[in-house]
Order: sequence, then C-alpha cells, then structure tokens
Amino acid sequence: MRTQYITSTPFSDQRPGTSGLRKATQTFQKAHYSENFIQAVFNTLGIAGKTLVIGGDGRFHNKAVLQTIIAMAVAQGAKALIITQNGLLSTPAASHLIRLNQADYGMILSASHNPGGADGDFGIKVNLERGEPAPEHVTEAIYQQSLALDGYITTDNGAIDLSELGDTRLGDTKIRIISATTDYVALMQECFDFPAIKRWLEQYRIAFDALHAVTGPYAKALFVDALGVDETYLLNTTPLPDFGGKHPDPAPDRIDELKHKMTEDERIVLVAASDGDGDRNLISGRDGVINPCDSLAVIADHHADIPCLRTLRGVARSMPTCRAIDKVASAQRLTCYETPTGWKFFANLLDAELIQLCGEESFGTGGDHIREKDGLWTILCWLNILAVSGKTPDQLIHEHWQRYGRHHFNRFDYSGLDPESATKMLASLERDLTKYIGQTHHGLTITSAGQFNYTDPTNGETTPGQGLQVQFGSQARIICRLSGTDTRGVTLRIYCEYWQQDITTKPALAGTTATLASLAQGALNISAFCGKTQPDHIV
Ligand code: G1P
Ligand code: ZN
Repeated sequence: MRTQYITSTPFSDQRPGTSGLRKATQTFQKAHYSENFIQAVFNTLGIAGKTLVIGGDGRFHNKAVLQTIIAMAVAQGAKALIITQNGLLSTPAASHLIRLNQADYGMILSASHNPGGADGDFGIKVNLERGEPAPEHVTEAIYQQSLALDGYITTDNGAIDLSELGDTRLGDTKIRIISATTDYVALMQECFDFPAIKRWLEQYRIAFDALHAVTGPYAKALFVDALGVDETYLLNTTPLPDFGGKHPDPAPDRIDELKHKMTEDERIVLVAASDGDGDRNLISGRDGVINPCDSLAVIADHHADIPCLRTLRGVARSMPTCRAIDKVASAQRLTCYETPTGWKFFANLLDAELIQLCGEESFGTGGDHIREKDGLWTILCWLNILAVSGKTPDQLIHEHWQRYGRHHFNRFDYSGLDPESATKMLASLERDLTKYIGQTHHGLTITSAGQFNYTDPTNGETTPGQGLQVQFGSQARIICRLSGTDTRGVTLRIYCEYWQQDITTKPALAGTTATLASLAQGALNISAFCGKTQPDHIV
C-alpha cells in the first residue's frame, strides 16, 4: 500500500448546514471536492487510531465517496472502519452503530430527502461518538479546516469489495463489513412490544413505502420477517441510486401509491413512508396524513403504552413545530423544551436525560434510543399504541383533538430566493418587529414578537438568530426563517399555527393558516424583496 499526498486548493463553500454538507452531486464530483471535505473532518476529529462507522443511503455517487473515505482513512492510520454491506446504512442505524461499537465518529453519505442522481443532490453528515449530529462548534471547526487545506493524504490501493460480510485488514486498519439491519432490528425489539404488535397485525393491515431509498431492507426485516406482514404491503423496497427517479421525501403530496393501496384494501388502517436516509416518517390513517406535530403529541400522550417511553419525563420540539405537544406536556406534567431547527440541538438534552422524546414539524420524531430522528421507530411507536389501545389512527387523532383542541399547522415555502435579498428582507422585518406587539389582526392580538435565540440548558452554549417569531398568545403563532439545507438559492419558510379549542364548531379564524401566512407575506414584503407573490410549496 502506497501513501500519497495530493495537493489541492481550498473550496470556500464547505460550511455544513442544518444537516451536514449538502450540495449538488456535481459539486461533490469536482476534482478534490469530497477529498478536501473528508480531510477537513479528519483534521478536526482525528483519524489515526480512530474507529469510524461509514455508510450511506445508496444514492448516486455513494459508492465512489465511500471508497474515497476508506482509502484516506487507511492511509492516515484509522484503527477500524465499520462499514455496512454494500455501504447501505440509514441515518438512525448509523447513530445506533456508533453507540453500539463505541466508535469515535461516523460519516453518513446522504442528502436526506433531496432528490438523488447525477443532477440531484449529495451530502456528507458527520455524527460524533454518542451517535449525534456534529454540533455547531464542530461543524464550524471543520469548515475552518476546509479553508486552510493544501492537500490530503490517500492511497492508491483501489476499491475494496463491500458485498461480503466479514473482517479484513488493510495497512493498519481493520475493515469490518457488517449487516446494516441486524443490530437495528435488535434495538427495535428492545424498544417495542413485538408480540403485541404482531397480534394486532393479525386483524389490521398496514402498508409502507420505502421510496426506493435506504429503508427498504430495514422495513423488510422488521415488518415482514419479525412482524409477519405480507411482503406485498411493502412498496419500492429496492434501494436505487436515483430513487427510481422520484423525490425520496415522504410528503403528503407524494404518497399516491399508498393511497391507492388503501383504496384496494379496506383492512389497511395505517400507511407510512420514510425518506432517503430513513430518519423521517410520514404516517397516515384512512382519513388523511397525521400532521407530524400531532403525531409527536399523540406519542407523548400515549407514552405509557410504549415500552421504551414508559418512563418519559421530558419532551422537546423544534421552535417552528406547533405547540400541540405543549398541551400534552402540561396535562401530563412533562417538561417541554423548545430548540432551534435541526436534530443536533436535541442530543444534549437527551444525554442529560432531560428529555426522552423529541420531534420536528418536518416529519422527524425520535427518542433516546439513538441520537437521530428515526422514521421506522416512529412508525413502530404508532403500531405499539394501536396494539395496546385497539383503536385506529383516525380514532386516536380525533380523540386527541377532542381532548386538547386542534392545532392547525402548515409551512409555506418560498424557494429559490436570492440569499442576500432574503437575508435583507428578514433583517428589515426584524428591525420593525417590536412595533407589532399589541396590534390586533383578524381578531388576534400579538403578544410577543422577536428573534429566537437559543441557550442550551446543559452547557450554556448560545445559538442566536434562529428565526423570527410572532405570537398571538397560545392561540396562534407565525415563524419565519431561512432554510439551512438548500443547495440552490435559499428557501424562506413561514410556519403558521392556529389552535381551535372546540373542534365541533368552525374555527373562529377563517382560512386559519393561510390567513396567517398572507399576514406574514405582507409584513415581510416578499414581492418587493424577492419577487414572489405566492409560496412554491405548502406542507
Ligand atoms: C430541514 C427541516 C429541519 C430538519 C432538516 C434536516 O431543515 O426544516 O426540521 O432538521 O431539514 O432534515 P431546513 O431546510 O429548514 O434548515
Ligand atoms: Zn432524512
């Protein structure tokens, strides 16, 4: 094995965002681009003598970058590389493997729910020794390293075979190829009451869509092999480099196949899907998709039915996630924390045992079993609740609204904006924001308005500027922030929430979230700053 030093010049755009470094695939294909970023990670976290877990969601360019990481890690004296068969590894399973094997850190190749392929997106996420996404100070250090590089170290060893399980050695590095699913399935069996779910599944049917992304093999192992679901109820389970040409995003407007399945078979009471790397979840009853904010609240409310959540004491939601869970927390005497957008902010709360359940409006929910959101785990939470209660998802959600009132919630996305104009637009609103306090619009009075600045209660670390928040007491709320996962231009996200206490009457605010969104659109003056008169996407 020959070690080579390859000279390169720094790229100025390698600052990781909400969830790792995410760019157009073509950017990662530029000469030295991936290598430079990997070297920046190694320089920041160390590589000689370290154990790493590596894998990815199977998208185009995964295999090439995986081999690049292997060659560079071997050349720089890594102690061990734990790699899943064929390099396929979901984000939640990666978090678990890092913890289980006491690895030093992991690298997950994924751009999550963004489309894949040569014209799609690619990404590299770094997770630390507790399985958690690297926090801001680490991603910032990686970025600073990336700006100071003059090259990287690799070998000319050639690609290694990732298809056979087993251990080999390359230089000083042990290479372990393991099953992607075995340890994860064992963890799920510890978390949930599989015999009860299996009995429930004798009476009811479920369907799952893996969207040709990474969860196919995991779903087969869990639903078919462990729980006895007929394989025909699982859709698109073969991971493909381009996700079959589809968007690997479990959004409500992308589940036509599941809806069709429900019309074919009336026994189906729940359908579900996950995203590219398996950390998101979508859950729908026959009456429609369950909003992730409601899903989080229902799981919290029924936590006693779920073995791994039985001792729940604290919960957290990201700031834009609606306040449905806050109502449950106050009724059940659980502490409820509010964090900035992005999973990395939950990890410290989980480690400090302040929370055991957390979630985001963007179809992400997770517990303290790992340090990532977990799509299949969330689906199993629902199945466990259904198995214990004997109710359908539609019944559960209806009962929830009856008890706690209904939080209408939508996110309005304005995409492809010029970053500078969008930043100016938000800064301009921020300057004026306090003037709005006390004003009444559509019968709702603004009780507070300002920037969301976060202080981590476990270590005092502050993260300022996480989004503009306008509150109308506990009745309604509007939040505006810019996305941190864009690869082309920037997206303005406007999150609107309206609480209807009595679901037997019409909401007092007509058009609820759309009315709030147009209020925000006017206050931001989006058309003047960014030339948009309506959102591109409403979730
Ligand atoms: C988006 C979601 C956020 C999630 C992240 C990674 O980030 O809004 O909740 O954690 O993807 O899945 P954003 O583009 O808003 O920065
Ligand atoms: Zn994802």
